[in-house]
Amino acid sequence: MNLGIIGCGNISSTYLENFTKVFHNIKITAVVDQNIEAARRQAKEFEVENICETNEELMTRPDVDIVLILTNPASHSVLLKQALLAGKHAYCEKPFALSLEEAREVLDIARKRNLYVGCAPDTMLGHGIQTCKKIVEDNWIGKTISIQFNVSYFGPDAWHPNPAFLYHKGAGPLLDIGPYYIACLTYLLGPISQVSSFTSITYPERTVLSRERHGEKIKVEVPTSISGIMKFENGTLGSMNISFDGASSEDPHIEIIGTEGTIIVPNPDTQKGDILFRKLNRSKRPGDMEYPISVIPPVYNYYENCRGIGVSEMASSIQKSRPNRLNGDFAYHTLEVLLAFQNPSASGVTKIESSFKPLTAFPIGLQKGEVD
Ligand SMILES: NC(=O)c1ccc[n+]([C@@H]2O[C@H](COP(=O)([O-])OP(=O)(O)OC[C@H]3O[C@@H](n4cnc5c(N)ncnc54)[C@H](O)[C@@H]3O)[C@@H](O)[C@H]2O)c1
Repeated sequence: MNLGIIGCGNISSTYLENFTKVFHNIKITAVVDQNIEAARRQAKEFEVENICETNEELMTRPDVDIVLILTNPASHSVLLKQALLAGKHAYCEKPFALSLEEAREVLDIARKRNLYVGCAPDTMLGHGIQTCKKIVEDNWIGKTISIQFNVSYFGPDAWHPNPAFLYHKGAGPLLDIGPYYIACLTYLLGPISQVSSFTSITYPERTVLSRERHGEKIKVEVPTSISGIMKFENGTLGSMNISFDGASSEDPHIEIIGTEGTIIVPNPDTQKGDILFRKLNRSKRPGDMEYPISVIPPVYNYYENCRGIGVSEMASSIQKSRPNRLNGDFAYHTLEVLLAFQNPSASGVTKIESSFKPLTAFPIGLQKGEVD
C-alpha cells in the first residue's frame, strides 16, 4: 500500500529505512514536514519522489492510502482526525493522543468511515516479544500471577537533538517510554482493570546536554518518576518504576511469573536482551523444585529494530479485511492506563474503563519482512 509520512525528524529515519529495505508491502509515495528542509533531507536520502508543502496536500493525494504521523505528541490526534476525514487510513507514533476525549474522537471518526487506525509502539511485533507471546499462549508458565518492570535513565535531554517536548504534556517517562512496557504487557496478558500510583518531579527544570541545543533550559510539566501497581482483567498483579531522574536501571526488562514458570522478556523499547525461562519441576521436592534457567531462542526472524512493522501489519490487515493487531481500541486502552498512572486519583485507585479484544501472536516461522 502507498504511504505518506508526516514528520521527518529523529525517528523517521528508522521507519524510512525499514520501509525501503525490509517491509515490501509498503511504498513511500510522499513526505511532508513543517520544516521543509527536514522533508527534503529525508526524501533525498531515501529516494521518496514527492515532497508536499502542506499536511493537507499529502493527505489528499490519490497515491496515499495510509498516513503515517511521526510528529511530536501534541499534534498526533489532530493529524489522525484530519487524515481520517480525508478518507485515509492513519497510524501514529506514541502516544495516541494527549487526552481520552481526543482519542475517542479519533476512534469515532474511524468507525463511522470504516477506516483503519493504528498506533506505535510496534516493537512487540518483533522477534523477542512475539516469542514471549507464544510462550504465554502455549501455557509454558501456567496461569500468570505477577509482573514487574523497572526502567530508569537520566532522560532524553542527554541525547535528543530537540528534547523539550519530552518533558511537556503528552510525554515524560510515562507517555514517552511507558507505552513500550504497558502495551507490551497488555499485548501479552490482556487488558488492565485497575491502577494506583505515586509520582514526583525531581528536577523542575532540566538543562539540555545534547549538542544541538546544549545549555537550553526546559521547564518540566509532567511527573518524571512514577511508581505504580496494577491489576489485569485476568487477575495478574503488577508493579513498576519508571523514571527520567537518575542513573540507568541495570536491566530494563519485564519479568512475568506464572504458576508453572517465569519468563524474562527482552526490553520492548530497544528489543535487546535474551528471553529467559525458568520452569517449576513439580516432580521434585520443595527446595529443589526448579529446572536451571534457560535461554529460549526466538522463533521469528526479526533481529533488528523493527519499527514500521505495525504499519506493515496494518496494511496487510486492510488488504485481508481483518482487524489490525495494534488497533485503535488497543491504543486507547494503553493511553487510558498511562494517563491513570500519570494522574493518580484522590481515592488511590483508578478503575480502567476501556478494554480490547484478545491479540494473537504471528504465525511461527515468518521471515524478515513478512507479517503473514
Ligand atoms: N526519537 C526517538 O528515538 C523516538 C523513538 C520512538 C518514538 N518516537 C516518537 O516519535 C515522535 C517523533 O519523535 P522525534 O524524536 O522524531 O521528534 P523530532 O522533534 O525529532 O521530529 C518531529 C518532526 O515532526 C515535525 N512536525 C511537528 N509537528 C508537525 C506538524 N504539525 N506538521 C508537520 N510536521 C510536524 C517537526 O518539524 C520534526 O521534524 C514522538 O511522538 C516520539 O515520542 C521517537
